[in-house]
Amino acid sequence: MTKSTNQFLKPITTTINNQGNLDIGGCDLVELAEKYETPLYVIDEKTLRNICSDYKEAFGKYPKTKMVYAAKALCTSAIMKILDEEGFGFDTVSLGEIYTAHNAKVDMKKILFNGNNKSYDELEAALEYGVGRFSVDNFYELALLNEIALTKKTKADILLRITPGIECHTHEYIQTGHLDSKFGFDLTQIDEAIELIQNEYKNLVLHGLHAHVGSQIFETNIFSDEIEIMAREISRIEKTYGLKLNEINIGGGLGVKYIEQDAPPSTFEIADIIINKINEVVEKYNIEPPLIFLEPGRSIISTAGVTLYTIGSSKQVPHGTKYISVDGGMADNPRPSMYQAEYSAQIANKKDIFKTEKVTIAGRYCESGDILIKDIELPQPEEGDIICVYNTGAYNYSMASNYNRVGRSAMVLVNNSESEIIVRRETLEDLVSHDLIPNRLKNERNI
Ligand code: LLP
Repeated sequence: MTKSTNQFLKPITTTINNQGNLDIGGCDLVELAEKYETPLYVIDEKTLRNICSDYKEAFGKYPKTKMVYAAKALCTSAIMKILDEEGFGFDTVSLGEIYTAHNAKVDMKKILFNGNNKSYDELEAALEYGVGRFSVDNFYELALLNEIALTKKTKADILLRITPGIECHTHEYIQTGHLDSKFGFDLTQIDEAIELIQNEYKNLVLHGLHAHVGSQIFETNIFSDEIEIMAREISRIEKTYGLKLNEINIGGGLGVKYIEQDAPPSTFEIADIIINKINEVVEKYNIEPPLIFLEPGRSIISTAGVTLYTIGSSKQVPHGTKYISVDGGMADNPRPSMYQAEYSAQIANKKDIFKTEKVTIAGRYCESGDILIKDIELPQPEEGDIICVYNTGAYNYSMASNYNRVGRSAMVLVNNSESEIIVRRETLEDLVSHDLIPNRLKNERNI
C-alpha cells in the first residue's frame, strides 16, 4: 500500500542544509527562529498540499465524495485559502470559524456547521451567510433552527448528527461516537426527529445523517462499522417514512504519527475500506449510492506543522531528571498536559552526531504539569539551541491560550525557500487591549 503523507513524522521537505541546520520548505529553521523569534509555528505548504492530493487521489475512485476540512484543527485565513484552492469545503463549529472562512472568501455553500450547542445568533448568522449544511445535533436545535428559518422565510439544509454507539480506542476525551456521548441523537431518537421534521418543522430540509466516532484513530474497521449503521438507518428511514436520504457524513478522525512507534493507517487504505463498504451497503440495503462527506482535521494539517522553541534554563535534579526549559509550553501546545500526548523533537542547530543525553523538555508556564516531552534523547542540549517539535500543525495554535498572560505565538508559512507570516505574534498591547478599568478604580496616575 502506498504510504500517505499523514504517515510521516516530519514535513516532507525536512532536510539538513549546508549549514548543518534543520531545514523545512527550503528555509533554515535557525534563521526562521532568529527572524521571527520563538516560539514559532511553522507550516510547510508542500506537505499540506501533498496531504490534500493524497486524499483526493485516494477518494477519486468514489466521485461522490465531499472533503470538508475540520477547521477546529487549525483555522486561520491563509490555511483556509490553501484548502479552498485544493477543493476542500469546511466543517465549522462556531461563528468565528465561519467568519474566518468568509474572510478567506470561501464559497459559503462549502461550509458545514456542526456543534452541540449552537446559539440563536450563530444559527441566524450562518443562515444569512448561506452555509451549505447544518448538522443538527439535538431536539433543541431542530426547533431553534426551524424557527429562525421560518422567521427569515427560508429553508435550512440539514443532516442529523447521530451517535452510532461505536467505541474507538483513543483517549477518552476525544472519543465521540460512543452511546453516552454528549453529541448527536441517540439511535432510538432518530424516529422522533424525523417525524418532527416531516410534520412540524417545514423549514428544515433533511439530506442525510452525520456521525463522528473519535479522533487520532488507528483502527480501520471503525469506519466500516459506522457506515454499516448509517446505511442501515437510511434504509430503515426510507422504508418507514418514504424519505430518501442520500448523504452520509462519516466525520473525521484518521490518526497521525507523533512518535516513531505510531503507525497510523494510510489515507489510501482508509479510502479503500470506506469505498468498498459503501459499495457493499448500497447493494445490501438497496439504496442509492450516497454522497459521502469526510471531515478530516488532524490528518490534513498536523504533519505539515512544527513548532520552534529556544532553550533557556536547565536543571539537573541530583540523581534524577534533567530538565531543559523552553520559551513556550502548555499555552501554545496544551496536548501533552491535556491528553498525555507524546511528541518527537530534534535540535535544529545540531546534527545528531553529538553524543545524546536523556532530558525532559519543560515548558515555561507556572505548572509542574507543563512538560512538553518526557525523557527524550537529544544531542547535548544547551541554552540558545533551537528545538523543533514535530507534528504540531493540528490542535496546537487552535487550542492555544494566553495563560500566564503570554501572547500567542506567530505562525509562518514556508514554501520554496520563502517564509511568510500568516498569524502575527500577539504583543503586550494585544494582551491588554480588551481590558477596561472602571472609572472608580482610576486614580490620578493612570487616568
Ligand atoms: N468532525 C467532527 C464532528 C469532530 O468533532 C472532529 C473533531 C472532526 C471532524 C475532526 O477530527 P480529526 O480528523 O481532527 O481527528 N483536541 C483534540 C481533538 C479533538 C477533536 C474534536 N473533534 C486533540 O488535540 O487531540
